[in-house]
Parts: sequence; structure tokens; C-alpha cells
Amino acid sequence: MSHRNVSKEALIGSITLGVVFVAGYIFGKRKSSRMSIFKSHAKGKDNPLMQYVLNHSLREHPVLQKLRLKTMEDSWSIMMVACEQAQFMANLAKLIKAKKALEIGVYTGYNTLSMALALPEDGVVVACDISEDYTNIGKPFWKEAGVEKKIDLRIQPALNTLDDLLSSGQAETFDFIFIDADKVNYDNYYEKSLQLLRKGGVIAIDNVLWGGSVLNPSPDDADTVAIDKLNKKLHRDARITLSMLTVGDGLTLAIKL
Ligand SMILES: C[S@@+](CC[C@H](N)C(=O)[O-])C[C@H]1O[C@@H](n2cnc3c(N)ncnc32)[C@H](O)[C@@H]1O
Ligand SMILES: *[C@@H]1O[C@H](CO)[C@@H](O)[C@H](O)[C@H]1NC(C)=O
Repeated sequence: MSHRNVSKEALIGSITLGVVFVAGYIFGKRKSSRMSIFKSHAKGKDNPLMQYVLNHSLREHPVLQKLRLKTMEDSWSIMMVACEQAQFMANLAKLIKAKKALEIGVYTGYNTLSMALALPEDGVVVACDISEDYTNIGKPFWKEAGVEKKIDLRIQPALNTLDDLLSSGQAETFDFIFIDADKVNYDNYYEKSLQLLRKGGVIAIDNVLWGGSVLNPSPDDADTVAIDKLNKKLHRDARITLSMLTVGDGLTLAIKL
């Protein structure tokens, strides 16, 4: 891919980066207030420094780029992971020589595809979502990239899939887990993920800043309350080491001790 192409598409990617701050997801709550928070963070396409970062680091697989552009046509494209965040997580997975990954919240499967491309031939991504409408958008691209056999898609509430994995003896076998589904279940996802993760494995938790709402959680905003509560819990959780990164809408990495 030429530099010119990367840059042009990176511009679109930065729009995606910005919209993660909208963070209304399928529940569509408080969309406009999050949009204004996003603007104050100025991480989107209007920020030349962010554009510089994308221009000088994004290496997007051609099929990932196609999937991203296809996803932009969907009215819920704000849910898609930021492309530089997906690239970062793929690099992390390679760094720890991950073979087995878990994605909680797939949407059109941009990150699922990115992860599948990063894993070795015998690697697997167990991908959890409740929506075939969304995941069907991604499937042809998984196939086109030649990695569909590495993706084990489970359509049912993610908590059920995590329980299935635990009861089929897969505790302590996962290397990398990405939590990116409904926020009120974040703590449940975290606890079950920690059981599924091997020592030295990584849990990446998305949207931990929730567009800035965590600074002032209102008691009637269940999503913000759940995220803030988990953030506080992780800070003093002796089972892990952690970093909270200001990538995208905030990404916490929890490494199992
Ligand atoms: C933010 S999107 C995921 C974005 C995705 N990680 C990516 O790379 O673009 C959240 C997804 O979680 C799914 N979801 C919501 N509630 C869920 C549940 N209880 N179990 C599994 N998936 C759920 C939604 O259908 C949606 O596709
Ligand atoms: C990024 O790349 C685009 C397209 O080549 C270019 O127009 C823009 O000036 C670049 N921005 C920065 C800050 O590098």
C-alpha cells in the first residue's frame, strides 16, 4: 500500500478514533454530551498531532481497511474500535506470543480480524456478540483475509460464552482478552476473564474514561457508575499489575500475576 493511501485512509481512521468518545453504543445514551467531550479532547481528525501519529504509524492490512470503510456505512459505526488501538493490541498480542484470544463485543469484527491476523496459524479468537446483523458485516472480510478458520464466533450473551469456556475446562488458557461490550457487565466480564486468562496474560478493557464522564459520575448513569467502580477496583486489585492508557476512549491493561 502506498503512503498516499495510508494517509488518506488514516484520515478516515481518525474520525473513527474520535467517535469512540461518543460511546453511546447500542443504548444510544447521551450521545451529544459525549460528542462535545470528544471535541474538547481534540483527538480527532482536526488534531494535527493525532493526524501525524496516524500518518507515521498506521499499517493497516488492506482487508482491514476495506472492513473499516464498509463499517463506516453502518449507522452504529461509532462503536468500532480505533484502528491505531487495534494495531497496538495486535502488537501486544505478538509481544506475549499469544495463541488464544477472546473478544467480548465484536460488532463488525475489525479488532477480531486484526487479532486473527496477528495470531499464528494455530491461533484462535473466540469472538462473543449477541448480534448476527453486525457480525455478518464482518464475516466476508474475515474470509477474504484468509483467517476465518481462526475465528470462533459465538452468538449469545457473552457471559454465557464465558461460562461455557470455563465449564469446558478452558480456565487459565487464554493469552489476551479484549473487553468491549455492554458496560454494566464490565465487572462480570473482568472476573470471568481473569479466570480464563493464563498468568502473564493481558486483559484490555476499552472505554475506561467513557468520554470523560468518569470524572463526575452521575448516580443515575449506570454505564459510567459501572466503569468508574471497576476502575477503582482494578487500582487496588492485587491479582494484577496495570496501566491505564489514554488511547482512544481510555484503555486499561491488566496483566495477571
Ligand atoms: C463497542 S462494540 C464492539 C466493537 C468491536 N470490539 C470492534 O473492534 O469494533 C460492542 C458490541 O457488544 C455487543 N454486545 C452488547 N451486549 C452484549 C452482550 N450481553 N453479550 C455479547 N455482546 C454484546 C454489541 O452487539 C456490539 O456489537
Ligand atoms: C497526513 O497525511 C495527509 C495525506 O498525505 C496530509 O495531507 C497531512 O498534511 C498529513 N498530516 C500530518 C500532520 O502529517
